[in-house]
Amino acid sequence: MTMNETDNGSIVIVDDNPNNLQVLAGMLQQEGYKVRPALSGELALRAIAVSPPDLILLDIRMPGMDGYETCRRLKAKPETVDIPVIFISALNENEDKLLAFAAGAVDYVSKPFQAAEVLARVRAQLQLYRMQRRLEHLVAERTAELRLTCESLENSRSQYRRMLEQTIQAIALTIEKRDPYTAGHQVRVSGLATAMAQEMGLDGERVEGLRLGGMIHDIGKIYLPAEILSRPGRLTDAEFTLIKTHSEVGSDIIAHVEFPWPVAQMILQHHERLDGSGYPRGQRGSEILLEARILAVADVVEAMASHRPYRPAVGIDKALDEIHLGRGRLYDPDVVDVCQRLFRDRGYQLPHSLGN
Ligand SMILES: [Fe+2]
Repeated sequence: MTMNETDNGSIVIVDDNPNNLQVLAGMLQQEGYKVRPALSGELALRAIAVSPPDLILLDIRMPGMDGYETCRRLKAKPETVDIPVIFISALNENEDKLLAFAAGAVDYVSKPFQAAEVLARVRAQLQLYRMQRRLEHLVAERTAELRLTCESLENSRSQYRRMLEQTIQAIALTIEKRDPYTAGHQVRVSGLATAMAQEMGLDGERVEGLRLGGMIHDIGKIYLPAEILSRPGRLTDAEFTLIKTHSEVGSDIIAHVEFPWPVAQMILQHHERLDGSGYPRGQRGSEILLEARILAVADVVEAMASHRPYRPAVGIDKALDEIHLGRGRLYDPDVVDVCQRLFRDRGYQLPHSLGN
């Protein structure tokens, strides 16, 4: 705006009477205001458009455009809408004053006027205007600061997300270094579980938790002897009992990491089955976390569709038949339906196994 700390403010005076203009201008200049006189509404609009003042004193009755119309035009433009307008007029009916305020005036001085009254009203309106400008300036400044803070918070948030993701990938890789036959298993289970959760309409944050949980759902296998994991042939009962510990061990490893998602529960429950025949707890139905019910189906489908040390890949069709057979008994029926739909209607494909 045009006003600064060193001047008292700039004022445009509009009056068709040169004498009035002269008296008002002299009075205001003496008080330190910068004054620009205009002899008509049209001239005033032009002068104001070139350089907007801090205040306008406006006569009502003028040849050509009257004060009401001049004021309405000023209030119709965003560049001039905020400039305070004080009417100075010999029209003294209440009706005239109401019309002036309706046109957008902030004050009304009657002619003949007292110099002290005009000066007091001008001073008050300019003070108000100046305070509003300061307030707007402050708000704009604070808004800009806040925006910067938000941006840097958002940056560190995405940096932490990246670090979390990379850490989880590193953990997943650690397991797979020892266990090449399930190389890629966790990644593919995670991908399938994520696609299923999205198809089920789970919200983005929850899907993200499931995606990361899926990537390390077999982390407990780190405690199993590598020979058991990688040797061909059927497992003995004792070996299978040992393998079954991996969900609990995995959940223990993760238990103290403060994930914003129930990752430890996902890992603990990913071999539980609806009818209680799963392990390690034999939990049933809705006791099992939805994320774990999704992982269970993704895990079975991926495992059957891929090659294993003790058998070749069974294939996706057989895998889908298998979950269909267990639908409602072993596996969550909604989750099974979503999985079938993904493969059969949506053309979902598991990425190729790496090296096996
Ligand atoms: Fe597992």
